[in-house]
Order: sequence, then C-alpha cells, then structure tokens
Amino acid sequence: MQILTLKEVDSTNFYAKNNLEALSDKTIIQALRQTFGHGRFSRKWIDLGGENLYLSFVLKPSTDFLESYSNLTQYLSVVLCEVLENYGLKPSIKWPNDVLINDKKIAGILSETVMQGTELKGLILGIGVNLNVDKKDIKKVTDKVITALNLEINEKVDLQNFTKDLVAKFFEKYDEFLLNGFRIIKQDYLNYANFLNENVKVETINGTVSGIAASITDCGELVLKNNEKDLVLTSGDIFIIERE
Ligand code: BTN
Repeated sequence: MQILTLKEVDSTNFYAKNNLEALSDKTIIQALRQTFGHGRFSRKWIDLGGENLYLSFVLKPSTDFLESYSNLTQYLSVVLCEVLENYGLKPSIKWPNDVLINDKKIAGILSETVMQGTELKGLILGIGVNLNVDKKDIKKVTDKVITALNLEINEKVDLQNFTKDLVAKFFEKYDEFLLNGFRIIKQDYLNYANFLNENVKVETINGTVSGIAASITDCGELVLKNNEKDLVLTSGDIFIIERE
C-alpha cells in the first residue's frame, strides 16, 4: 500500500482514472487541494481548504466484477464511522453511504468503475471528509446542512493522523469483505443507520420515489414500503428524511 500525495489536482478520482494503468492495486491518491472535486449525481465537491481530506483508493481486486465491489462505498462508510467514534462522536449513515454527525453531512463517498469491454480495469473509491473548516465557510458551500470534524470536537484535526487511521482501518478487513460481501458488515451498518422506519424521499436515476425505509437487504439494498408494495432499490440517495 502506497500513499501518493499531490499538492493540487482537479480531482483525485480523475487523477486515478487517468493514470490507472500505471498505478498498482491499493495505491492511495491524496490531494491537499482539489479544484474540480465531484460527487454523486453530478454534484460538485467543493474544496474547503487544505486541511481537509480528499482521497481516492485505487483498487484492482480482479478482472471480473464481483457483487461485493458495489458495496465498497457502504464498507467505507462503516470504516469512517469507526474512525469518527475514536473522536468521541456518534456518527450515523444515511443510505447508501453518507456519513453524518448530528444529522449534518461530514463526508461524501464516490465509487467509479473502469471497464474495458467485460474486463474490470479498476475501481476508484473516492472520499472527501470535512476535517478543518472555518465556521463562516460552512454555509456558503451548499444548501444542505453540513459540518466538519473540527467544529464538532472544537479542536483542529491532524490531517495526516486522520488519513493514516482511515487507510489502516480500511485495509484491516478489506480482503475479508471482498470475499464475503455486505453481509459481514450488515449489523454494523444497521447500527449506524439513521433512516430505518422513517418516511424518506430517494433520488434515483429514474426520478424520486418515497415511502417508509423498511429494511436493508443482505446485499445492502434499501427496501421501501410504498402503498404496501415493497420497492427494492439498489442505487440512489436518500435526500429527505421526514421525521414525525
Ligand atoms: C458525494 O457526496 O456526492 C460524494 C463526494 C465525493 C468527494 C470525493 S473528494 C475525493 C474524491 N475526488 C472527487 O472528485 N470526489 C471524491
């Protein structure tokens, strides 16, 4: 495992994709600044300063695509929650992989797959975590409610230590996860889940669906109860939780 630190890049995911051939399995691309960070559903991931985490895991586990690979974002969200707990916090997960503190988003995860025909060339698993953000900058970023670790613990966070902890924890159970898939983290995932039995709205590539978030399957899918019908969602993003 190798961490390649760049002073500035458009996006660590772009860098990983553009240099995929030359990068070996388990290389980490970290940038101190990102000028064109992007997220899920074509959203932007804004650079909030040099003391935040912008990083991509370059993974080349095999040349064919196994089911467990599509759950790597959920695996990483659980790993991040475990790291955040070491700071005395109570993180939660909003399906599928947003990590929140006190209902405010602190991190985003974006996985991109590179295929050549039917051959898997690599998986790029990008993560951004707000570690050190000026309170006045937090509001101008997005209309969504976000936070940063320094604001939650009232203390500056050491980017290098945080990165080391996150990467080490990620690889601790990575091989086991690839072999066994979501079911081995399901209970941990559910312990962090903040949306179960709530009325939710989910953004999918086919539009918005709503219903009660009834359960999570052994494959990490969200089961929505909608007019007594079960809707099983494999991808999407909960964007509203309507609490009573
Ligand atoms: C999201 O919440 O929509 C996902 C955001 C992912 C942001 C990270 S920052 C490092 C990596 N590089 C990118 O351009 N995106 C990911």
